[in-house]
Amino acid sequence: MKIGIIGSGALGSNVARALANKGLRATIANKSGPASMATLLAELGPTITAGTIEQAANADIVLVAVPWVALKTLLSGLPAWNNRIVIDGTNPVIFLDPDSPDAKDPSNPLAAYGIKAINLGGKYSSAVFRELVPGARLVKAFNHLDARVLPQPEAAGGRRTLFYSGDDAAAKSEVRKLLETTGCFPVDLGPLDVGAPLMELPFGALAMSNFIKI
Ligand SMILES: NC(=O)c1ccc[n+]([C@@H]2O[C@H](COP(=O)([O-])OP(=O)(O)OC[C@H]3O[C@@H](n4cnc5c(N)ncnc54)[C@H](OP(=O)(O)O)[C@@H]3O)[C@@H](O)[C@H]2O)c1
Repeated sequence: MKIGIIGSGALGSNVARALANKGLRATIANKSGPASMATLLAELGPTITAGTIEQAANADIVLVAVPWVALKTLLSGLPAWNNRIVIDGTNPVIFLDPDSPDAKDPSNPLAAYGIKAINLGGKYSSAVFRELVPGARLVKAFNHLDARVLPQPEAAGGRRTLFYSGDDAAAKSEVRKLLETTGCFPVDLGPLDVGAPLMELPFGALAMSNFIKI
């Protein structure tokens, strides 16, 4: 299975680190282009290669790791998914510039964390995401923890739990295998309608739950 990662920021780079640590191959892409990832690639070693967004999007399993506000532009420009697996690693939040008025807005309960929730009109975020990837088999994963812990799957004498959720059993099985290969302990939260809202930031009941399987 070829793996593509779109986004080389906190989430994309740390998933790439987790894969590289186990010798897994992946193509990573970002908005600025392959040359901008030279330092990251030197750190990650030979199994991770930089590509264009189209090359990463062409993989069998494609992790989308870009800010929520970039999703529509990114996903509307990609070729048909043709039943390939897309992992939604996103959360519906805006990262605030610490110097912006939003960062000091007393009506924003998340201002202290440097984020603002995006109003999706009562929908959960993967339901919105699903509409942007017609023809893909969607699995939500990698989104519910601080991405910096992902390259350290072993913790406190056990394995870090990573949730995943989706409607296609075969796609979930592939993502489960991927999560297992990185060394963490995958936990299936069931169909997208059930699991995805639980694990999404900022308000999902299991968001930021950092469980260790002993
Ligand atoms: N940070 C975390 O700990 C964490 C944890 C779980 C989930 N998430 C979620 O993961 C997503 C990414 O967050 P992040 O913290 O990784 O953000 P980030 O550090 O700001 O990185 C964002 C990445 O997305 C790329 N990008 C932006 N617009 C793009 C476009 N139109 N096409 C292709 N690539 C584009 C950027 O490319 P350039 O590098 O070229 O600018 C950058 O590599 C968000 O939805 C976030 O909620 C984050």
